[in-house]
Amino acid sequence: MTTRRYARRVLGVEASGIRKLFDAGGPDAINLGIGQPDFDTPDHIKEAAIRSIREGKTGYTANAGIIELRDAICEKLQRENTLPYTPEHIIVTAGGSEALHLVMQTLVDTGDRVLFADPGFVAYPTLATLAGGRPEGLALDATLHIDVEAAKEQMDGARLFILNTPANPTGMVESEASIRALVEYANDRGVTVVSDEVYEHFTYEKEHCSAARYGEDVITINAASKTYAMTGWRVGFLAGPTEYVDQCMKVHQYCQACATAASQYAALAAYTGDQTPVAAMRDEYRARRDILYDGLTGIGLEFPRPEGAFYMFVPMGRTLIQQAIEKGVVIVPGEAFGRNAAGYARFSYATSRENLVRAVERLERLME
Ligand SMILES: Cc1ncc(COP(=O)(O)O)c(C=O)c1O
Repeated sequence: MTTRRYARRVLGVEASGIRKLFDAGGPDAINLGIGQPDFDTPDHIKEAAIRSIREGKTGYTANAGIIELRDAICEKLQRENTLPYTPEHIIVTAGGSEALHLVMQTLVDTGDRVLFADPGFVAYPTLATLAGGRPEGLALDATLHIDVEAAKEQMDGARLFILNTPANPTGMVESEASIRALVEYANDRGVTVVSDEVYEHFTYEKEHCSAARYGEDVITINAASKTYAMTGWRVGFLAGPTEYVDQCMKVHQYCQACATAASQYAALAAYTGDQTPVAAMRDEYRARRDILYDGLTGIGLEFPRPEGAFYMFVPMGRTLIQQAIEKGVVIVPGEAFGRNAAGYARFSYATSRENLVRAVERLERLME
């Protein structure tokens, strides 16, 4: 029999536990495990993609993405984030995921330290490891925000600091003062900041603030995925200094060639078209946040009120988490997001209000 052999760097990586939750829990399960909008992509976006296919725009595009889309992204960055970019600063990617991969492959050398919040987005440690780097978690404070002073102590000598606000899995939004302090400190010490802003539109009290406003050595990562309910279209981008973009292009060119043509036309319609669906989704997420937060605190769970994204990170103990999953409330145990989150569970409220109410009722019965 053939002996199958694999690269060591891949064997060192565990498959994401979260994807398994797509099917977890049986027919009556309430799935609060998945981090994707339950809304449909707005019609004008779908129509733009269909039109592009009918018009035969189905070949490879420019590696960096169609110029109309890169122009639209620059306008979006100016309008919404007060960031002054031109198309040479942009690469259109297959979602935020590819943008993160490009940055890691391009900037991280063997043994380089890559910092990010722990608990944090599951892809960061894995992508850092695949690039040969050493992932390193930054502990959060009691309110689940980055502890700025503690983070500074780990900053010296690191290669990258990945900032994610609004954050997955905590649902917290960093203040402008924290972002500014972290970016200035990192850049002063030669640490490049990667700002993952895929949840930027889903903030409920504090304003979102882009890290690149406070430093020259910042790469911004974003995607149409969450903002426009377009996760399956696989389209996102990175924006940053042209020197980085030129190097990242080498990886993008050979692993992806270009983002899917029809998805780029869809994203063009998304960034240039009617923005009211985004506001409507934000309002609905806020209402759901309130229902779930009031429900969970009402049955005795105590934790800080999340401020953004569509996640709630709840300290409830391993036993209750396990019982909840067995009784069909599918949530993700904190261990999936790092070393510092045992006993917490991530609830995604990208699901109907009815499901949230039913989930709280089931939990309440378990706690009686
Ligand atoms: C913090 C964060 N960054 C990036 C991504 C990747 O997004 P995309 O679907 O655009 O690849 C996700 C997806 O869950 C995320 O939560």
